[in-house]
Amino acid sequence: MPFECDVITLFPEMFSAITQYGITGKACKNGIFQLVTWNPRDFTHNNHRTVDDDPYGGGPGMVMMAQPLEDSIIQAKTRQIKLGLKNTRVIYLSPQGKPLDHETAKMFSNLPGFILLCGRYEGIDERLIINQVDMELSIGDYVLSGGELAAMVLIDCIIRQMPGTLGDPESATQDSFVNGLLEHPHYTRPEQYKGDCVPEILMSGNHAHIRRWRLQQSLGRTWLKRPDLFELKFAQGMTGEEEILLEEFKKSYKSR
Ligand SMILES: C[S@@+](CC[C@H](N)C(=O)[O-])C[C@H]1O[C@@H](n2cnc3c(N)ncnc32)[C@H](O)[C@@H]1O
Repeated sequence: MPFECDVITLFPEMFSAITQYGITGKACKNGIFQLVTWNPRDFTHNNHRTVDDDPYGGGPGMVMMAQPLEDSIIQAKTRQIKLGLKNTRVIYLSPQGKPLDHETAKMFSNLPGFILLCGRYEGIDERLIINQVDMELSIGDYVLSGGELAAMVLIDCIIRQMPGTLGDPESATQDSFVNGLLEHPHYTRPEQYKGDCVPEILMSGNHAHIRRWRLQQSLGRTWLKRPDLFELKFAQGMTGEEEILLEEFKKSYKSR
C-alpha cells in the first residue's frame, strides 16, 4: 500500500516538483506514495473564495481563517479513513515546530501516511492549531513564505527511506546522519581532475582498507564540520578503532 500523503495548500501545483521529477517522481509513478491536495479555497462560504482576514489586535499581514482549513482537514481525514487509515496525524509545517531531523523522517517513514497543513501569510488562526493539529514541524530557524517548500522537503526525505525508492537500497543506509555521522567524501572518473588525484586507497580494491578510510573520513569531517553531532554521537565514548582513526585524521589535518 502506498504512503498516503494528503496536503492542504493554497498552491497545489507546486507539488508537481516532487510528484513529477527525480527520485520522488519515480516513487510516485511506482505507487510508493500517493499525494492528494486539498485547496482551502474550495471550502470557503463566500463569493470571493477568501481564506484570510485581518489579525485581531492589529498589525501587519493577514491570517488564515480556521473554517476553510478545518473543512479541508475533515475531507483529507475522510479520504484516509476510506482507505483504512485511522488516527492519521495532522502536521502543521511551521517555523515554531520541532526541528526536522533524520530520526523524525525515519519515524514518519514507518507510518501509513499523514496530513500536512501548509500555512501562508502571517500564519494560521491559533484555534485551528490547538484543535486540529497533532504536531508542528519546522525545517529550520528561518521563515519561508509558505509551508509548501517545507512540506516537500519533509516528503522527499521520508520517501528516500522507503524500500524500492532508491536504485541501490544501500544508498540510504550510508547517507549522512543515518549512523549519527556525516558521510565520507565521494569521487568518480576521471582519476585526475585538474591535477587533483583520487585517493589511492579507493582504487586499491582492498575493501577492509577502504572501509577504514571511509570511517576515518566520516569521523574526521563530523568532528570538523559538526561538533554538535560529534558530541551527541560519542557521548558514551568511542570504540578503540574509532579513537585511533580520529587521532590519525587530526594529525594529518594539523600537518596540512
Ligand atoms: C510567513 S510564514 C509565517 C511565520 C509566522 N508569522 C511566524 O513568525 O512564526 C507563513 C507560513 O510558512 C510556513 N513556514 C515558514 N517558515 C517555516 C519553517 N522554517 N518550517 C516550516 N514551515 C515554515 C508556515 O506554514 C507558515 O504558516
